[in-house]
Amino acid sequence: MTEYFGSAMMESDLNAMSDIDDLANPVGVIKEAQDLAAEAFGSDNAYFLINGTTSGIHAMILAAAAQREKMIVPRDGHKSMYSALILSGASPVFLPPALHPEFGFPLPPDPADLETIFNEVRQIQSIDIKSLFLINPSYYGLAPRLSVLADIAKREGIALLVDEAHGSHFYFHESFPQTAMSVGACMSALSMHKTGGSLTQASLLLRQGQRISNEHIRNILDILRTSSSSYLLMSSLDTARSMLATRGRELLEETLKVARVARDRINSIPGLVAPGPIELSPDNRIGGFDETRLTVCVNGIGLSGFDVERVLRKEYKIQIEMSDFHSVVAIITFADTETQLDSLIHALGAIARSSSRKAVRNFPDHPGVPPRVMNPRDAFYSPKESLPIRDTEGSICAEMIMAYPPGIPLICPGEVMTPEIIEHVQALKSAGAALQGMADTSADNVQIVEGS
Ligand SMILES: Cc1ncc(COP(=O)(O)O)c(C=O)c1O
Repeated sequence: MTEYFGSAMMESDLNAMSDIDDLANPVGVIKEAQDLAAEAFGSDNAYFLINGTTSGIHAMILAAAAQREKMIVPRDGHKSMYSALILSGASPVFLPPALHPEFGFPLPPDPADLETIFNEVRQIQSIDIKSLFLINPSYYGLAPRLSVLADIAKREGIALLVDEAHGSHFYFHESFPQTAMSVGACMSALSMHKTGGSLTQASLLLRQGQRISNEHIRNILDILRTSSSSYLLMSSLDTARSMLATRGRELLEETLKVARVARDRINSIPGLVAPGPIELSPDNRIGGFDETRLTVCVNGIGLSGFDVERVLRKEYKIQIEMSDFHSVVAIITFADTETQLDSLIHALGAIARSSSRKAVRNFPDHPGVPPRVMNPRDAFYSPKESLPIRDTEGSICAEMIMAYPPGIPLICPGEVMTPEIIEHVQALKSAGAALQGMADTSADNVQIVEGS
């Protein structure tokens, strides 16, 4: 490792001692670095996370909702939101999901649906909602109408928590959608390692205001965190913060230019569509769009996104971020140049020209949200049995099933297996999607609540 990575990396792989501070009780250089991060992102506090945004989402949900307390959440949340619900025992109230009618990807929640939930809750005095959890932006770069939703949360006196795993860069250029901190959210978790330039696993948790205190969140982080935090990961957060704070706007200006040129060039390839800010302009659900997220819909060349991802990797040595039945998604960051994107565009052009199927193939629709009959935690901790997936119709699922990425569960513990879910999981498997969440890694058997 020393030969390959260099001695500086090995010498920096230290453990807590007084001169280099301790993440569990930061009073020196780590405190200084976290304070600088809070200043750069406009929060009261920033906390270094060395187990990704997943741990930030766990901390936010554990801090905001105790066992059986109600939290409003989008149904298309990342698996870390569901695992946090299992850990805390909080009871989710789902915002109804919707798909883009033309491009098929998940849309952010409609503020009208949030109002409906509160109107319904007012009729039932015993229900007490404590918090609202949102995603800004989604894997496909779509942002919710954050200030409208934040105003409703403020009016109702509940905590707003935001998953900004894909939004670290939003804080450093005005062309991106609104940020959680700018609309007054209590907390937000950011995957600096996705779009902010830190090493993989290094993320940030931001906090502001009075609703959830610094002391409470520090106690929770202490429960979740290793007592041997990596100095490599922490220093990568500090240097990424420094770069964004001093040169972020200039770097992102260039990234936006590269992304705009790439999108236009892809849209000139017959059969491919890369929707941009015009097609995804603000409406009752969409508050903004991240132009550096390049989603390319490929059904017009008769292929699935999974097919295109495979050909890009095998034949062109290009690894894109994610694929689904309809599209491939590339993340463009300030590390990408026009020349690098050239290779992607040429490869996509060649794939489109050589595809023998010119008609759109019939890919499965989204299977819809299955009915929920138990709390995620109760179902997860119930006695379980494992059944072949084809025999599970009508049973209560005791695990999550998802394609990863994007890591949005098709079904989560406490929901009922439907024929549509069973068919969709089998279609994903045949299409070569990476399935996660099931105890059976072959995805042939599903854990269900015993006897259900
Ligand atoms: C929407 C969303 N939230 C949370 C996460 C978890 O982030 P991390 O990988 O930093 O733990 C991801 C990861 O892809 C994500 O897509």
